[in-house]
Amino acid sequence: MANLFQLLCVFEALLIAIFMMYYKCVDPIRVDCICPFKKPSLSDLSVYQNKSNAIAQKPLAKGASVYQSKPNEYKCQLEKAVGLRAIHGSNIYTDFVNGNDGPANRHVYSDLVGWGIDYNTLHEILERFQPNFVVEVGSWKGLSAVTMANWMLKHIKGDCKIIVCVDTWLGTTKAWLEPEQNGNTLYRKAGYPSVYYQFLFNVISAKVTDIVVPLPLPGTMGAIFMQKKNAAPDLIFIDGCHDYACVLEDIRAWYPVVRINGALFGDDVDRKEVLDAVKEAARSLDATFTIHGRYWLLVK
Ligand SMILES: C[S@@+](CC[C@H](N)C(=O)[O-])C[C@H]1O[C@@H](n2cnc3c(N)ncnc32)[C@H](O)[C@@H]1O
Repeated sequence: MANLFQLLCVFEALLIAIFMMYYKCVDPIRVDCICPFKKPSLSDLSVYQNKSNAIAQKPLAKGASVYQSKPNEYKCQLEKAVGLRAIHGSNIYTDFVNGNDGPANRHVYSDLVGWGIDYNTLHEILERFQPNFVVEVGSWKGLSAVTMANWMLKHIKGDCKIIVCVDTWLGTTKAWLEPEQNGNTLYRKAGYPSVYYQFLFNVISAKVTDIVVPLPLPGTMGAIFMQKKNAAPDLIFIDGCHDYACVLEDIRAWYPVVRINGALFGDDVDRKEVLDAVKEAARSLDATFTIHGRYWLLVK
């Protein structure tokens, strides 16, 4: 009888040992154990490879790091600094509720009206600078941001590409002087614009949410924000306020932010106020600028 009892104890100990071994190996945090029961899955392998850096990685985009395949980590340093989660703490696109109960208090429909784009010249500028990090100052309903995002998704390699859209979404002087005319719909609620939600909806509809990050700030504050984040964009598109004083202010604020050999460029250089401001900014910064169709371009 005693022998049988001892045998049972040994058997139980054996069972516990097998269970412990199995448990240790299926624990998702431990991917480095050699488990006799479970083949490592592909995701286990990718985590392990990143940990040990054992497998040669494909060439990384500028600013990218080794964090690429862990689901809960940032894909690259750029995303960590100015990505959607870094700036907003959550995915504002999936959180967006469309309809009367949503933040726009209306059902938002597609309205991707812009202020005019010269697609060929815009694409030439993107082609020349091959940016994986763009800042747009003045996005309105998203037409130029969506256009640049589509180009970048098609032409820029790697996972690490971002367009930060800096805009108050309160409109321009012109939009308030000629309200509701020529696509200047501000969707005002008790006098306060809600066009931001139109921008969100258009970005979602265009399926460019992976790389477009809104930053609802005045242009000059956006520049300070980027400097505090040590973020140096390849290209900065200035298309916010079009009055002389603020074009000048935007160029002066963003020039220190763009990376060396990167560029600022802006729309509507055919407007006298814009051209005068660009001339004055270039003079005071001791820089030169060129004109390409409707855009001015100032390389740092
Ligand atoms: C001409 S629209 C931008 C058009 C857009 N780039 C496009 O092509 O579709 C100008 C935008 O700049 C924004 N804006 C005007 N002054 C601004 C400022 N000081 N800071 C940030 N955004 C501003 C307005 O809210 C508006 O959405």
